[in-house]
Amino acid sequence: MKKILHIISSPRGEASMSIKLGNAITEKIKAEYPGSTVKVHNLATHRFPHLEEVHIASFFTPEEHRTHRDLEAIRHSEEAINEIKDADIIVIGVPIYNFNISSTLKAWLDHIVRRGVTFKYDENGPQGLLDSKKVYLALSSGGIFSEGPMTGLDFSVPYLRHMLAFIGLTDVTVYRVEGLSIPGIQDTALEKGINSVVIA
Ligand SMILES: Cc1cc2nc3c(=O)[nH]c(=O)nc-3n(C[C@H](O)[C@H](O)[C@H](O)COP(=O)(O)O)c2cc1C
Repeated sequence: MKKILHIISSPRGEASMSIKLGNAITEKIKAEYPGSTVKVHNLATHRFPHLEEVHIASFFTPEEHRTHRDLEAIRHSEEAINEIKDADIIVIGVPIYNFNISSTLKAWLDHIVRRGVTFKYDENGPQGLLDSKKVYLALSSGGIFSEGPMTGLDFSVPYLRHMLAFIGLTDVTVYRVEGLSIPGIQDTALEKGINSVVIA
């Protein structure tokens, strides 16, 4: 039995392909580990603010000196990091916007990547502080980035792999619903993406 955290970042609700793929991944995890629970965090409906001065000031203020305003500013970040710590498996929905992750997902990342909390620098360089756990990325895109001429434009997966590893989450598997804008491919893209999901 696993505790699954499903991070949603598409605003498109039931029409969203990254949500459908993420749901299919969680269903397959539940089939593999009966009794597993799913916590959904929908960033599109409970969005994270872009980093403002108050957040940054709070991040870098020692805990014992944080004011009420600092604590309120840091609350989102603390909750998001605790959600990650509490989960055994994380599923992250990633709609591709303008060749990268959405600003909705980036805002969440900006609140969970925190020096001294989820990463630190020591004599060996950066070190992730989160215990590693399984992460599945559920990507959806109009184009095809996993193979063919657009592979060099696949900025989102290398970026997410780097950032997740930076905070200690190195076990990342990517699944995609891709080619959603391409006639002849779009109709079977979801089925193909879901069928590719294997829970080890
Ligand atoms: C604002 C916007 C920008 C997009 N940019 C790209 C892009 O650069 N490359 C691409 O392959 N698809 C792009 N798409 C298509 C989306 O990736 C595709 O519709 C995907 O299914 C969205 O995820 P969702 O279904 O979970 O909402 C874009 C869609 C939108 C709405």
